[in-house]
Amino acid sequence: MSKIKLYEGGTLPIEMHRVSIVHPIRLIPVEERLRALDEAGNCSYNLKSEDVFIDMITDSGFNAMSDAQAGAFHLADYAYAGSTTYYKMADKIKEILGKEYFLPVHQGRACEQMLARSFVKQGDLIPTNFHFCTFLTQTRLMGGDLVEFLQEKGLSTVGEDGFKGDYDLEKLEKFLNETPKERVPMIRIEAGTNLIGGQPISLDNINAVSAIARARGIRVLLDMSLVMDNLHFIKTRDEKRKDHTIRQIMREMADAADIIYFSGRKLGFARGGGICMNDHGDYIKVRDNVSCFEGFPTFGGMSSAEMEVMRVGFDDTMDENVVSQGPDFIEYMVEEFKKRGVPVVTPAGGLGCHLDADRFCAHLGKKEFRAAALAAAIYIVSGARGMERGLSSEAPEDSIAPFELVRLAVPRRVYTLSHIKYVIDRVCWLYEHRDMIGAMRWEDESVKEHMFIDFLRPADDWRERLALEYKKANLE
Ligand code: F0G
Repeated sequence: MSKIKLYEGGTLPIEMHRVSIVHPIRLIPVEERLRALDEAGNCSYNLKSEDVFIDMITDSGFNAMSDAQAGAFHLADYAYAGSTTYYKMADKIKEILGKEYFLPVHQGRACEQMLARSFVKQGDLIPTNFHFCTFLTQTRLMGGDLVEFLQEKGLSTVGEDGFKGDYDLEKLEKFLNETPKERVPMIRIEAGTNLIGGQPISLDNINAVSAIARARGIRVLLDMSLVMDNLHFIKTRDEKRKDHTIRQIMREMADAADIIYFSGRKLGFARGGGICMNDHGDYIKVRDNVSCFEGFPTFGGMSSAEMEVMRVGFDDTMDENVVSQGPDFIEYMVEEFKKRGVPVVTPAGGLGCHLDADRFCAHLGKKEFRAAALAAAIYIVSGARGMERGLSSEAPEDSIAPFELVRLAVPRRVYTLSHIKYVIDRVCWLYEHRDMIGAMRWEDESVKEHMFIDFLRPADDWRERLALEYKKANLE
């Protein structure tokens, strides 16, 4: 139980933990926030965390540890080869995911690099429900590319379909019928599809993709970085699985995949990553790359202490009260915003509440960095930092992004409902004053950076005017 019914009506997400170690945070005055934005080139990624009041840029490496995780830190066996820590982690993977082989690496994109190096060659095409930028980059570096098969519904920021991350199975089959098998080394499935607003994929759809791939002898690759939220959504939105335990759902999903990888900065509430599989030949290929690029295969560039934390984090993840905490807070935010007409991606997904900057800042042009401008404006009126998920998050060669979103990530077990309510309140104030949000331009047209870090300048003094209006409201 993580949502309680109120006597006065309605429900409330409630934290199923209490806090014993805290980090103080501070809200710097609005004038200083303007200065911090200047120094950061108006890019939320460039802000110093000490200047941020509520940090909602990501959950990556930022989820809070449980007491059991903090304790496990000290069990680390730092042996270079054959450490006890590694074997305990490998056993946990076997127990939960049913995979024989486990290779640790330093973070999620390292898994992707190892997999691309092991399996992708020039001209290969990898079907996926939707791309994630780091996997796309690693695949392209090896001369391959991704082909997206997301159902139409996933490309809309509105709608109430519970599984917007689903594959279009017909299109996938047609593609596989028309493409030589040698060019398709694997089919990728992303759980909790990040770039469409953390939208889940259904277990039936995963099983169907897996059956299609296996009938053709193609590997199924599952990115489980965001599986926590996806598990919750299967449990709560899939009638067939409502009585299944989180552990059962996780295993059914894992069984559908031949290779699983994850960012341990998300799954497992630690800082690391991992690749698991049953095929010995595949394991040897990936292991040799891990040895070459990450570290000896029993630590793969991860700290043993973090591996201990990750192992306990896997157990934590099997608890419904833990996997529901993020999605319940996000749903609360989405519902509050919907009530006030603030445009958000619906239905509520995982990872964070996604504001739709295309609708929020409809008065700005598509190339005027709507999401970056909105993220800067949110910081000015709240001190909260969201993540631009628009043009600045794309590859340098792109001049238009498919979506302009601002993600207000909800790192797990980190913020309380007061923090969440505060952010909702300030975003609502901003929505009432949205016409004051102005355009952003390149700081220097000749240095188009993207990949999250752009140096931008406001088209005029709209940020100062917005700050003045906010001060007049006397809210701080
Ligand atoms: N796959 C998915 C679905 C991710 O969301 C991420 C990271 C990665 C792979 C790469 O993992 O960061 O450990 O190298 N997402 C982070 C985010 C960056 O904030 O959404 P990593």
